[in-house]
Amino acid sequence: MQESCINHQMAGFSLYCLRNCFLVFPLLVHFCQSRLIGPTQPIIATAGKDITLPCHLVPGENVAAMTLEWTRPELDPRFVFLWRAGQDLINMKNPSYIGRSSLFTDELKHGNTSLKLCKVKPADEGRYRCYIPDKDEEAFIHLVVASGAVSSPVISLANLDKAISGVVLQCESPGWYPEPELLWLDGEGNLLSAGPTETLRGPDDLYTVSSRVTVEKRHSNNITCRVQQRNTNQSRETHIHVPEDFFDIPSSSPSVTDTSPVSLALCILLLILSVVFLVRRKRKNVMKTNRRPKDQTEDVRVSTEEDREREQLNMKLPITSRQQLQEEQQRREDAENTLGDLQNDKEKLENELQDEKKRNEDQEAKLKELEKKNTEIINQLQQEKETLEELKKQLESKNQELSDSISELNREKMIRESEINTMKNQLESNKQEMMKSEREKDEIITKLRQTILALESKLQEEKQRREKAEKQVQMLPTETEEEKQNKEETEKKVQTLQIKTEKISQINSPSKQKK
Ligand SMILES: *[C@@H]1O[C@H](CO)[C@@H](O)[C@H](O)[C@H]1NC(C)=O
Ligand SMILES: *[C@@H]1O[C@H](CO)[C@@H](O)[C@H](O)[C@H]1NC(C)=O
Ligand SMILES: *[C@@H]1O[C@H](CO)[C@@H](O)[C@H](O)[C@H]1NC(C)=O
Repeated sequence: MQESCINHQMAGFSLYCLRNCFLVFPLLVHFCQSRLIGPTQPIIATAGKDITLPCHLVPGENVAAMTLEWTRPELDPRFVFLWRAGQDLINMKNPSYIGRSSLFTDELKHGNTSLKLCKVKPADEGRYRCYIPDKDEEAFIHLVVASGAVSSPVISLANLDKAISGVVLQCESPGWYPEPELLWLDGEGNLLSAGPTETLRGPDDLYTVSSRVTVEKRHSNNITCRVQQRNTNQSRETHIHVPEDFFDIPSSSPSVTDTSPVSLALCILLLILSVVFLVRRKRKNVMKTNRRPKDQTEDVRVSTEEDREREQLNMKLPITSRQQLQEEQQRREDAENTLGDLQNDKEKLENELQDEKKRNEDQEAKLKELEKKNTEIINQLQQEKETLEELKKQLESKNQELSDSISELNREKMIRESEINTMKNQLESNKQEMMKSEREKDEIITKLRQTILALESKLQEEKQRREKAEKQVQMLPTETEEEKQNKEETEKKVQTLQIKTEKISQINSPSKQKK
């Protein structure tokens, strides 16, 4: 009964254990089972360079004898690399990876299954799966391919914004991958607010970015255009120094900023008109009676004069009109003087206008020249760009040709190898067949020998039997001799008996014998 109690306790314990072990077991499995570890961050490769995609088993163990798979699930065929029975199975590979993917075979014994990719292409970008079927362990590695041949951005003068006396600059940079961002900075490194960045994707999958910014004089005129890629840390920048006289073209003085020759002429005309109007009003006022209040300060002097005139008119009307005439003349002279002054002013203003015009023309000519130079420079740059692009294209096509021929060679090599292998196999099978037939021959010979031996032994037996028989036969006559003797004896006995019987009969019938 004590035992059952213990058992009961044990059952309780094991129940407890079970409950806890179910919690612990996955953990144990988790810790004991080896796991494949890949990088958590994307791997960033530069186009044209080599890259290692890390993947390793933890804890490390020798995986050289296991099957190791590197695949890209999106591809068909999906194998980037396949290792089985200690061999690189090239035939299973996706053709675009032939001759470009390999393992570090010396590292396999430490569980390091990292993949080496040579001459990375933009098309290599994507998700890679590192997988060990024996362990059912996998790791995913994301590969990003950055363009290798980015060039410095090119800044050009796009426009002049006369309204704010600013300069519009354009910045462009081709050949990027992944898509970069474009920034404008002033001389102090502050970000300038610019227009939207335009992004174009070319047939080569590379991005061209461009953007425009309006630079005002208040900005320091050392401007930077920077193109950068956050995740690859690649960046290129170009500085431009905008000469100060670029901003001065529409003249920096704000009072003249808006004056076009037409508006200036209009101003002068208005001035003259207003002066003439004033003079005429003055004269009218002289004619009229003074009805306005005297407190209008601006006309104080005029009104007193008018008063006097009125008094004169009222009181000295009968007196000579010569005085009146003189006064009238005086007034006219005054007006003429003011008119002359005004005309002088007008001439001066006109001269100024002329000067201004000339200056304007000069500046426009300068501007035109600058624009011409700029377009020339832009054209030159464009041409250089084009030639560069052509060179690039040529290089790319040559590269393509080379890789094509390499893959062609590889394919041929594979074909040859497979041919050699089949020949080897045939040889092997032939050899085996020959060996087999020889073995068969040997077997037949031994069988024959055995049969011969058997026959011989049978013969021997037969001989012996015959001999025995012969012996028996020989022995047989001796028996007959005995028999003969016996016979003879018996014959003799019979003869003797006959003789006896004859004698007896002779004796019994002598008559008969006489007859
Ligand atoms: C695996 O091998 C590669 C190539 O030798 C090496 O760069 C990498 O560090 C190795 N990884 C580990 C985890 O040892
Ligand atoms: C403009 O600024 C850059 C740094 O932002 C500097 O390297 C360059 O020398 C400056 N150029 C001029 C002309 O000031
Ligand atoms: C880029 O630079 C930053 C800071 O300098 C660094 O933390 C980061 O690891 C770099 N990234 C790459 C992909 O080199």
